[in-house]
Amino acid sequence: MSGPNISHSSKDFDPGPSPIQKALLWLFLIFLALALGMFAAALADTTFGQAVLNYINNLFALSSTQTMWYITRSSGLVAYMLLWLSTAWGLAVDSKILDFALHRSFTYDFHQYISLFSLGFLALHMAVLLFDGFMPYSIPQILLPFISNYRPFWVGIGVIGMYLMVLVTVTFYMKNQIGIKAFRAIHLLSLLGYLGGLVHSFFSGTDSSLPAAQIMYGGTFLVVIFLFVYWLVMRMANRHSAPPKTITSTPVKVVNRRSY
Ligand code: HEM
Repeated sequence: MSGPNISHSSKDFDPGPSPIQKALLWLFLIFLALALGMFAAALADTTFGQAVLNYINNLFALSSTQTMWYITRSSGLVAYMLLWLSTAWGLAVDSKILDFALHRSFTYDFHQYISLFSLGFLALHMAVLLFDGFMPYSIPQILLPFISNYRPFWVGIGVIGMYLMVLVTVTFYMKNQIGIKAFRAIHLLSLLGYLGGLVHSFFSGTDSSLPAAQIMYGGTFLVVIFLFVYWLVMRMANRHSAPPKTITSTPVKVVNRRSY
């Protein structure tokens, strides 16, 4: 069976944007989203903005207070589920659990994309709070921990979790610049980011009193604990079984597309 005909000529090779360009693009998108949020918040105070809000209100047969509240809660829950999936997936990939069924390039890309999706829903979760009719947030209250009027401690933990998520995601694109050791150390902080997201969600969420929400938080947390212990055990086992280093006269260059 013959495979696809892939040309390797240097003319066809497109290295794509550099990591710095990618990081700059993400920064630009984050600032653009913030600027759009501020513009929309200013517009909401005008007669035109009020008319648009009333129209959206009628469209969904909800009061605007409820609309924003429902959106922030639902986007928070989706952001949490994606953050959990990304954390669990990352531990599973690094423990090589998925190697028997899925190709590494797919599992790494999937891990990366769910983290980005999680950040997207998180941005929505935070931006919508600016328009909350019942308890509107200011930009400093969204960006600085522990100054929220509502449950300042638990919301503050969410803000710290958000910064950890951003740090881990941005450094993903700067692996070559910061070096593999720093990358790994920073990447471990994603576990703290997940824990921050979990306790924030549980202790500040309206839905946390529901048995369904409690089962969801408890179940997802147990999965992470299990995968984390498995990951630790595999790491220690690999360390003990690693062959002693030998000195070879010819250096061997190992090229890995992605190395964790
Ligand atoms: C790691 C990042 C975060 C995740 C995964 C996350 C997720 C969640 C979840 C799942 C809920 C519970 C929704 C419910 O039960 O109704 C929630 C509630 C809330 N979050 Fe976040 N969040 C994060 C960061 C933030 C940040 C940075 C803010 C900004 C101030 C924030 C503000 C809030 C507020 C005010 C509530 C209470 C909403 C309510 O139920 O009335 N969160 N969050």
